[in-house]
Amino acid sequence: MSTTTSLHGMWSSRLAFILAATGSAVGLGNVWRFPYTAGEYGGGAFVLVYLLCVAAIGIPIMMAEIMLGRRGRQSPINTMRALARQEGACSAWQFLGWMGIVAGFLILSFYSVIAGWTMAYVVRAGAGQFQGIDGEAAGAIFNALIADPERLLAWHTIFMVLCVLVVARGVASGLEKAVRFLMPALFVLLIVMVIYAAQTGDFAGGMAYLFKPDFAKLGAHAGEAVLSAMGQAFFSLSLGMGAIMIYGSYLNSQASIGQNTVIIAVMDTMVALLAGLAIFPIVLANGLEPGSGPGLIFQTLPIAFGQMPGGAFFGVLFFVLLVFAAWTSAISLLEPMVAWLVENLGFSRVRAATLAGVAVWLLGIACLLSLNVWSGFTLFGKGILDLFDYVTANVLLPLGGVLIAVFAGWVMQRRSSEAELGLGANAVLYRGWRLLIRYIAPAGVILVFLNAIGLL
Ligand code: PHE
Repeated sequence: MSTTTSLHGMWSSRLAFILAATGSAVGLGNVWRFPYTAGEYGGGAFVLVYLLCVAAIGIPIMMAEIMLGRRGRQSPINTMRALARQEGACSAWQFLGWMGIVAGFLILSFYSVIAGWTMAYVVRAGAGQFQGIDGEAAGAIFNALIADPERLLAWHTIFMVLCVLVVARGVASGLEKAVRFLMPALFVLLIVMVIYAAQTGDFAGGMAYLFKPDFAKLGAHAGEAVLSAMGQAFFSLSLGMGAIMIYGSYLNSQASIGQNTVIIAVMDTMVALLAGLAIFPIVLANGLEPGSGPGLIFQTLPIAFGQMPGGAFFGVLFFVLLVFAAWTSAISLLEPMVAWLVENLGFSRVRAATLAGVAVWLLGIACLLSLNVWSGFTLFGKGILDLFDYVTANVLLPLGGVLIAVFAGWVMQRRSSEAELGLGANAVLYRGWRLLIRYIAPAGVILVFLNAIGLL
């Protein structure tokens, strides 16, 4: 077991790590992305595949990622290089870290734009704009926002500044305190929303939509639906790009990786399912289209806030909490590149965070323009924002995950992983993990890939 520490700081306790990693996992991926992708692929069957992927692929890979991070104690690129050397493997494994930087870069560029929508909705909720609106009016408010590049740019800029501020100060100091109270608050508010949806929306319909798998609904796009469910699992758990790896590198050597992983994955999944249960009853009761795409929650939740007593208050609170959840995720997307700049180029954290932030901000401008001015420009039928969203979640993150699994399961010696995971006394658990990480997780991802491109 390693007893080293990271030059970037350490979490003050096991709880601090759980909070930070949950803060990374829980974000727009759960509340914004999960409902709209589930809606695009018809609900139940997608959700079932997603849950299977979380359990059989996500959990073992998250354990592997934390383990590699804690053993390497550096940015993902340098961690992979150091561990490859330690295990006598080829230094090309650092490529995994580079791919993660690219993925983080692309994700944060559009993530910040969506976080900007969320901030804009705090203002709209507070101004009482949702009062008594129907589906059509909610759609009009959303369309007016995304048609306005200057507004989107302003919010995107504010969000990126917020991220850079925290990362420049070091994540171990500021993040812990924020997440400790925000996560429970978001949780409680989602439950309030679910209760409201249960009373006024089509709750039975929403339950059936999410939990009654109808594989026929996947139809001709079954391969793509399964790929997207797997991609959603990676995205939501923050896996495959080094975010969880770097958070693992700040974790002390005594903490149990298995136990922490299960806690994080369960909380992340519960938040996604609660978000689904808050949204689909409203979608169904108002005759809205579940497959309407990335605008889904922004076109449904305002209807609920416009009708419920105290709706302006709850609306502001909800969107504020969602901004915070997005913030704690975005920080983890930025941290791997910042740590690398500090390690390799000797930058101060402030300089590294600013440089990375500006680069992401520039790319984010392309994302937000793709919603309006450049909407005519598409690749594979998608605008830039949608394309980044699709390719990162469905290709880059799962690919990163396979490489992590192969490294942890095949390249790393058994005694290294056995010692680092510390499941020692529990031979059955270790063997279970090893089976999943060597065979099930990599084979699962590759089969899903092959199936999606029609080779299977
Ligand atoms: N998991 C985050 C969310 O659900 C997004 C994220 C993806 C964060 C990848 C870090 C790495 O919102």
